[in-house]
Amino acid sequence: MPDWTHELPPLPVHPNRVLLFIAMEGEAAPLAGRLGLNVRGTPGSAANSIDLVVPGLDPTVGADRIGPAYAAWALTRAIMARRPDIVVNIGTAGGFASQGLGIADLVLARDTMFHDARVALPGFAAIARAHTRLSPSDTELDRLASDLGARVGLASSGSSLDVTTDELAHFARTRTLAKDMELAALAAVCNAERIPLVALKGVTDLVDHHEPAAEAFVRNLKRTCERLAEATVPLLRALRAS
Ligand code: ADE
Repeated sequence: MPDWTHELPPLPVHPNRVLLFIAMEGEAAPLAGRLGLNVRGTPGSAANSIDLVVPGLDPTVGADRIGPAYAAWALTRAIMARRPDIVVNIGTAGGFASQGLGIADLVLARDTMFHDARVALPGFAAIARAHTRLSPSDTELDRLASDLGARVGLASSGSSLDVTTDELAHFARTRTLAKDMELAALAAVCNAERIPLVALKGVTDLVDHHEPAAEAFVRNLKRTCERLAEATVPLLRALRAS
């Protein structure tokens, strides 16, 4: 029996409408430049049947609306408006040096979950963790990973940039490769709407390193987003050809 609770629909054949979800405008900028898309605000813009959804800046705080709540909000709105054939999440993540990852390395998500959801009630624990297998099969993941130079594995989500000691033990036990703040929320929405989902993460900081994640994140953001943008072009080509 698989250890995840939900399985998303398989990759569609020749998807027409692709919805790209990127959490931060700064993450989206290099890719939007390459694809000729507009990064500003929700609901995003369309070109060649690729829609870009970025939750946008909060007008009070002036910062990107990061995290699971805004990810679910923006993706739900976009799905209702555009009924995509597939959702593709591109974004940054913390990576794990103990799993052989380094800065700007890429991870294709096989599965995702909320690692900080603790609910000691049967049924509700599984709902809160939302452990979900993404759409590409193992064969498709291996092919894409070798094309892109990416690793394949668990990309786990939470509401925090930093990490607790308990979470570090959990990540080691589950051999987590990447840690972000949106993917499990996107997977929960895609599961509820039965829409296929693929995710590519780029490493900006190493979760199991003594340097604070925030410092490494800021220093490596541009380099990692360039690498992500470079890899997303062939990823989209492969997905649309499959
Ligand atoms: N995005 C980039 N780095 C991250 C980290 N360490 N945790 C969560 N989200 C991230």
